[in-house]
Amino acid sequence: MGDPPGAATFQQAETYDRLVGRYTRELGRALIDAAGVRPGGSAVDVGCGPGALTTELLAVLGAERVAGVDPSAPFVEACRRRLPGVRVELGSAEALPFEDDAFDYALAQLVVNFMTDAPAGVREMSRVTRSGGTVAAAVWDYAGEMTFLRRFWDAAVALDPSVADRDEGNSMPFCAPGQLEQLLSTVGLADVRGSAAVVGAGYEGFEDLWEPLELGVAPSGAYAASLSPPARAALKEEFRRRLGVGDEPFRLTARAWLAIGRVP
Ligand SMILES: C[S@@+](CC[C@H](N)C(=O)[O-])C[C@H]1O[C@@H](n2cnc3c(N)ncnc32)[C@H](O)[C@@H]1O
Repeated sequence: MGDPPGAATFQQAETYDRLVGRYTRELGRALIDAAGVRPGGSAVDVGCGPGALTTELLAVLGAERVAGVDPSAPFVEACRRRLPGVRVELGSAEALPFEDDAFDYALAQLVVNFMTDAPAGVREMSRVTRSGGTVAAAVWDYAGEMTFLRRFWDAAVALDPSVADRDEGNSMPFCAPGQLEQLLSTVGLADVRGSAAVVGAGYEGFEDLWEPLELGVAPSGAYAASLSPPARAALKEEFRRRLGVGDEPFRLTARAWLAIGRVP
């Protein structure tokens, strides 16, 4: 497989928080619920980023029973700083720096689409989880009801049809119903089941949504930052028009697909 779309764009923790992180604590709680994470167990957050899901895991399990791993050095540094006592390693899903059967749960939230080799990454998640333990993953419904990203790419492609292949609804291999379940089943996980979760985020106004996009984080931000000033201004206006929002506070919802499997 080639380089995943945008994996290298996850470098600025505070900008990530403003762009995507505003949704991911709530999504983390939904993934924890779906995976049946219970106090007394141990968990690894694969592709932990600055630590949204890690924070929610810590609330259930305690710091000493939670680990995180991410290939982005600035994200690892931010996660360590925010969550003292949690073991946070620099590394990739495809070669996890943990022993076999080390955890009861392995979770990857909004990560499999950025893995260089997703089956290898999920196989590794299975390896570090004990028999009978749980592997869980979540991806955005990029093609449908992840409102912010859907409207962003609809605006971008309307202004420049040649960027349709950068639309995450097209470029992400796991974003339609059933695809994540298929991935988990392919690597041999048992009792695989899928579900959906809808989460939300509040904004003070359109500028609050737009500003972090200009800073180059995630595939959407990287695209916005790559444009000439006039093209970026046109995208900003078209995006705002399609969202139908202005300077007043508003709220957007985002749907994610979840999949859960048991390690045989
Ligand atoms: C959209 S962010 C999700 C971060 C966090 N899980 C959350 O929910 O906020 C994607 C994350 O995947 C990480 N990532 C990219 N390639 C990866 C890989 N091969 N293995 C593990 N994580 C990876 C990125 O560094 C980034 O932190």
